[in-house]
Amino acid sequence: MTAIPVIIDTDTAQDDCVTILLGLLDPAADLLAITMVAGNVGFEQQVANAHLTLNVAGRLGTVPVHLGCRRPLMRDWESAEDVHGDGSGGLSMDRDGVTESGEHGVDALLRLTAERPGEVSIVAIGPLTNIAMAVVKDPAFAARVKSLYVMGGSNNGRGNITAAAEFNFYVDPEAAQVVMDAGFADLRIVTWDPLTLRDATIDRARYNELCELGTPLAGFFARMCEATIDYDESVGINGSTHPDSLTLAILLHPELVQASARYRVDVETRSELTRGLSVMAWEKFGLTPNATVVEAVDAPAFYRVLAGLLATATTPDRPVTGLAG
Ligand code: RIB
Ligand code: CA
Repeated sequence: MTAIPVIIDTDTAQDDCVTILLGLLDPAADLLAITMVAGNVGFEQQVANAHLTLNVAGRLGTVPVHLGCRRPLMRDWESAEDVHGDGSGGLSMDRDGVTESGEHGVDALLRLTAERPGEVSIVAIGPLTNIAMAVVKDPAFAARVKSLYVMGGSNNGRGNITAAAEFNFYVDPEAAQVVMDAGFADLRIVTWDPLTLRDATIDRARYNELCELGTPLAGFFARMCEATIDYDESVGINGSTHPDSLTLAILLHPELVQASARYRVDVETRSELTRGLSVMAWEKFGLTPNATVVEAVDAPAFYRVLAGLLATATTPDRPVTGLAG
């Protein structure tokens, strides 16, 4: 099996960290770079979470971390710290000598896809600011991206940061619309509702099973997801939500997808009431589709992917303060 060359564009907190672990440790992935985008938590905290994740996997410094856009295109940054805490459960490590690339995340996206046109996939699991900036900076960017897998929006369903909008599309709706209009030949979308809420939410009993696997990765998972599952349950969600890792998982393991369809997807940018709302028009409306929206996945198989990942024995490169064992 030839590993899939992939870039993860991320607002690194909670399930973003699980996604990075999957990119590092799944044999189907060839993780070329991590590009950071303003989203879940403070930008510097996101960078710290990315290095922490690399460290727990025993891969510190092996994948370049590129700093991307520190704010949305047009809007002020909005946090999800109420949902995720600091995104890694208060864990920390000595970062002496640990550095990020001097190349901006947008430039890394442009360069890596230009070096290997038609070969590199991008998994975008935060606001789409970096992706949109790459599209604007180089009109030929979209055409040389093999596939763009996006976590964002809801398919005629509930939002999460507002009743209308999912967080990634809400934070930077203009960027999301630029991406929808950019002409990516293979744009796939993993949504919040119904897909994540039905097929990528791990109930407390199975979440506890993952946390108790006895590996450094399982201990890390328990700490970084703790704040989010508590928040999720407080708002009526039945467990720990994992839309980001699902987005990479379906790239690496396409057999997980049980249903998808072509839609015309657009994002509300003018209304404050419905800012970030994803309008996903199915075939009935006769619009030209721009995306494949994932409608159902094999939830038990996805859980097994995560369980297999977290059961992997790794040796952190550096001690992690707060991580048992
Ligand atoms: O709405 C869920 C998305 O917003 C996930 O990517 C989560 O990490 C946050 O970025
Ligand atoms: Ca994310």
